[in-house]
Amino acid sequence: MALQEGRYGLTYTTARPEAVEAFDGMVTSYLGFGRDIGDRLKQVFAADPDMPLAHVAKGYLFKLFGSGAMAERAKKVLAEAKTRAETHGVTEREALHLAALEAWCAEDVDRTTACWERAVLEYPKDALALRLAHFNHFYAGEGRMMRDSTARVLPDWSKDDPDYGFLLGMHAFGLEEAGDYAAAEPFGREAVERNPADAWAVHAVAHIMEMQGRHREGVDWVAGLERDWSATNNFRFHLYWHQALFHLERGEIDAVLALYDRQIASDLDADMYLDVCNGASLLWRLEMYGVDVGDRWKELARVSLRHAEDHELIFVSLHYLMALIKGGEAQAAATLASHLESYANAATTQGRVAARVGTATAEAMAALARGDAATVVEALYPVRYDLYCMGGSHAQRDVFEEMLVTAAVEADPMLARALLAERTAAKPNSAWSWGKYAAALKATGRDQAADLAQARAAGLLSAAAG
Ligand SMILES: [Fe+2]
Repeated sequence: MALQEGRYGLTYTTARPEAVEAFDGMVTSYLGFGRDIGDRLKQVFAADPDMPLAHVAKGYLFKLFGSGAMAERAKKVLAEAKTRAETHGVTEREALHLAALEAWCAEDVDRTTACWERAVLEYPKDALALRLAHFNHFYAGEGRMMRDSTARVLPDWSKDDPDYGFLLGMHAFGLEEAGDYAAAEPFGREAVERNPADAWAVHAVAHIMEMQGRHREGVDWVAGLERDWSATNNFRFHLYWHQALFHLERGEIDAVLALYDRQIASDLDADMYLDVCNGASLLWRLEMYGVDVGDRWKELARVSLRHAEDHELIFVSLHYLMALIKGGEAQAAATLASHLESYANAATTQGRVAARVGTATAEAMAALARGDAATVVEALYPVRYDLYCMGGSHAQRDVFEEMLVTAAVEADPMLARALLAERTAAKPNSAWSWGKYAAALKATGRDQAADLAQARAAGLLSAAAG
């Protein structure tokens, strides 16, 4: 089949230039969390139903759902893509994409990412490969890889490239997850200046503010740009989640619950894993902060019931488990936990994650829910430094750190005191952490230091209220 040239001089196996134009539009939609990505893909197929890379992209979209059912559909699409590739031939770049989808369907996520990174080495402006690699680095917890993956292509891009702003936003987030907040922020702000609807860039700056304890500024940042980013797909609910976290730190519980009800849990029937992650981790945090969340777990549990045997992303499965445990679905929770245990024997990327941290975290969550603080500490403390490998962001994984310190205050106050000394040093603006630190100090006989920590917590909350 003939080759057509698309954006950035990339070539595609197709006889139809309009198929390539539609493909470029689909990639930009993907970069911007567009609601029209499915329609864009349909436009590509309408122009050329045999374009090999269109079939690969369709497989990617199914895999990005992160669910077992969608992974099965991706496998069927992979077979279609292979047939097209055999019939029409593919370029070297398209062959790398096909190999990536094949590896992804075989649950070899590391090899998948390696294929995309290879494509980006040869074609630094392959924005699809770049963004997908960014996604997989994220779900491997590899902030440094996210940072470096975009840093190495920045010199190849021009400020005039239409997707350049998205590259800046990705780079900002990689720097943030690698811990370089000062370097990250200008990249994120420049991306948002170029395009205030770039939800990933808005999100990168929100993460910087979260990590630096800039809670008031964080609320203003996210809310101030809401009109732009709220036009995106369900990713917008993750930005509302960030807004809720800032309010939570400030003790503004009514605002947190209002965001939960009006936004974060408003589209659970769409069955998007990130919605459940947002909801479950927020409700679990609220309960650890002493808030009665009423019957809000029920809806999250109802959606999670469908995913008790998913293992696409262990990070996500653990959030389904939170919902099942708290939503009164004991049998499904047990099914999910035992599925994680058996999947921990699988020779796959996420199988290794399940073995390294998944089963221990699942055990800890069940123990915390039944009030067995000692088991929580026993399960979670030894894997504390490995938790990153389940992926997600520092801010998202912090819920597991909060579980550990909550349990430790009860079961092992000396350990809690040490963990909370660390935590308050890293998060000096966290009132909740100072409050827990006060409890641990008190339990270990350090009354004077406990009073000071309690005063610090109260001072932060009253400053927020004032
Ligand atoms: Fe986030």
